[in-house]
Amino acid sequence: MYSDLNPGKRVLMGPGPSDVHPRVLKAMSTPLVGHLDPDFLTIMNETREMLREVFQTKNELTIALSGTGSAGMEASLVNLLEPGDKAVVCINGLFAERMADIVKRCGAEPIIIQADWGNIVESEQVKEVFEKNTKIKLLAIVHAETSTGVRQPLEEISRLTKEAGALFVVDAVTSLAGIPVEPDNWKIDAIYSGTQKCLSCPPGLSPVSFSEEATKSMAKRTSPIRSWYLDMQMLQSYWGKERFYHHTAPINMVYALREALRLVLEEGLEKRFQRHQLHSKALVEGLQAMGLKMVAPAQYRLPELNAVYIPEGIDDGTVRKALLNEYGIEIGGGLGKFKGKAWRIGLMGYSCSKANVTLFLSALENILQNNGYTVPEHGISAAAAFYKE
Ligand SMILES: Cc1ncc(COP(=O)(O)O)c(C=O)c1O
Repeated sequence: MYSDLNPGKRVLMGPGPSDVHPRVLKAMSTPLVGHLDPDFLTIMNETREMLREVFQTKNELTIALSGTGSAGMEASLVNLLEPGDKAVVCINGLFAERMADIVKRCGAEPIIIQADWGNIVESEQVKEVFEKNTKIKLLAIVHAETSTGVRQPLEEISRLTKEAGALFVVDAVTSLAGIPVEPDNWKIDAIYSGTQKCLSCPPGLSPVSFSEEATKSMAKRTSPIRSWYLDMQMLQSYWGKERFYHHTAPINMVYALREALRLVLEEGLEKRFQRHQLHSKALVEGLQAMGLKMVAPAQYRLPELNAVYIPEGIDDGTVRKALLNEYGIEIGGGLGKFKGKAWRIGLMGYSCSKANVTLFLSALENILQNNGYTVPEHGISAAAAFYKE
C-alpha cells in the first residue's frame, strides 16, 4: 500500500514555482468538461482575452501553450527560424544559454553576445554585432534572468533590432506580472512566459504572444516547422475560431490560469508591480543589514528574484536544508557559475508579502547565527524600519 499524498507544508520563496492562491487551487478542482465542450471554448476565449490584458498587447496570436516556460522558448525559436538563418542570442545567464542551444537544434547559426553573469547585455554590444553581420533573422534575449536576478533593459536593444530588420524575441518567464512587460510598446515579435512564477499558478502552461510581423514571417517559411506539437499555425487554429483539433488541452490547468489571470487583473498590474518593488526593497534592506551582498547592481535588480551572495564560510546546503526542515521555506541555490556561491530568493506573485519577508529574514538570521556567522545588524529590524517609512 502506498501512503496518502502528503507533501510538507512549504513557503515557496525560490525561483519558482511560487505559492498559489487558494482560489487557483479551487479552480483546478472544478469538474472536468471535454476540451471541445462549448463551456470550455468560452473559458479558452476568456483566458486569451485576459492574457492579452496581462501581456498589455493587441496581438491576435496570444495563447497558452500546453507545456512549461521552456515550451514557449522552443516555440518562439522553432517557428521563426529556418535552417541556415542567423540568430543573435544575448547571453548573461543560464536561460539565454538554452536559447542558443535551441537555435542550433533548428539548424540555424547562433551569433553570441556574451555578458558577465550578474550584469546586463549592453546595447553597444548589440550595435556592434549588427554592424558586423547582415541578414540576421532575429535577436533573442532574456528580460528577467532567473539565474542571476538581473533585469535586462529592452527598449534600446529593440530599436537596434528593428533597425536591422530582425525580429525581436523576449523571454518573459520571470517578468510577466512581476515587473512591466510591454510587447507592443517595445516592439517585441515573440514573447513567452510561464505560469509558475509571478502569475502564481502551478507549472504547466506557457503564455505566448506573437506580433503580426512574426505571424507573417511564419507564413512565408519555405521549410516546415521542426516541431509538430509547437507549430503555432496549427495551435492558432486550435485556440482560434476554427477550433481545429490539435491536441487535448490540459483543461484543469487552463481553469487555474484563468483564475490566476483574474487575480492579477483584480489587483491591477500597476499595484502588483508596486507590491513586488516594496517587498523586495524591504528584503534587500534586511539582507544588507545582515552584511550580505546582492548579486545584481541596484538599478538592474529584479524585485521578484533576489540573488544574494552566500557569506564567506557559510555552507549553501546546510542553510537551505535548515530553512526547509525548520521553517518549511524553500529558496533556490545558485545555478551554473553561482552554484554554492549565491542564493536566489523569490518574491513572486502570491509569495510576495510582508509576512514572507519577515519570516524569511528571521529564519535566515537564526540559521546563520547557528552556523557561526555574526550579523552586524538585525535584518528584521532593518526591514521593519523600511516598512514603517
Ligand atoms: C528565464 C527563464 N526562462 C525559461 C525557463 C524555463 O521554464 P520552465 O522551467 O517552466 O520550463 C525558466 C525557468 O525557471 C526561466 O527562469
